Amino acid sequence: MPARTQAALQGVGAVETAPADPPPCHVAVIMDGNGRWAAARGLPRVAGHRAGAQAVRRIVETAIRHGVSWITLYAFSSENWRRPAGEVLDLTGLLRHYLRNEVSELKREGVRLRFIGDRDRFDADIVADLARAEADTAGNTRLNLTLALSYGGRAEIVAAARAAAAAVRAGTLDPDAIDEAGFASLLSTSSMPDPDLIIRTSGEQRLSNFLLWQSAYAELLFLDVLWPDFGPAHFAKAMAEYARRERRFGARPA
Ligand code: FPP
Repeated sequence: MPARTQAALQGVGAVETAPADPPPCHVAVIMDGNGRWAAARGLPRVAGHRAGAQAVRRIVETAIRHGVSWITLYAFSSENWRRPAGEVLDLTGLLRHYLRNEVSELKREGVRLRFIGDRDRFDADIVADLARAEADTAGNTRLNLTLALSYGGRAEIVAAARAAAAAVRAGTLDPDAIDEAGFASLLSTSSMPDPDLIIRTSGEQRLSNFLLWQSAYAELLFLDVLWPDFGPAHFAKAMAEYARRERRFGARPA
């Protein structure tokens, strides 16, 4: 971990720092470390995922307090289907529970829910709950919460390429007219801004197929905290670290 980040994290658990000014518009999070959190306590992995779901609740409240408008959470990757059947059942069960029990509160708090990923791989009742949650919260504007479910960045880019190719074949798209903005409009994130900051917990330092196109100019922050332990103080320190970064988007410093 860079010394700067380590310094930024010292004192976590003590006083929260002031919100970053301006805060990142869009924060995306790779929530990693549930299994290790459970193992460290001699608990089954599902206990880690349950504690991880509590941390999801906390980050929603905290993001609102910091003036962040968009939060995207990597809750289930397309590769997670390869986990043992029991763990997949635990994770989809938690998702079902979350959709049935938390959406009304999120709606009250002004949160708009979206889901990206291959939702049709989930059971039909979950697919219906996802659509209902999106429809029920569509009028909210306080925080945009997107859960990436059965999501993979490469699959998303391939699907967009296929859609562009189909439009070319149908004669409705000139290949020479395909540009970055047009291609981005074919991605599942077309209605969302690109992430300004991507946080990964647990100390691992990779993107694991998350928002590959959208992360082109995102600031990356790898934190040595397991996801279930992630709380308001870690979020505040991440905001402070973001405020220290100089974003140049390929240009020269001012
Ligand atoms: C990575 O930890 C985390 C996941 C694969 C799932 C994330 C799920 C949650 C945070 C809970 C469910 C969320 C909702 C919104 C219902 P890991 O299992 O890979 O941990 P490890 O690397 O320590 O084994």
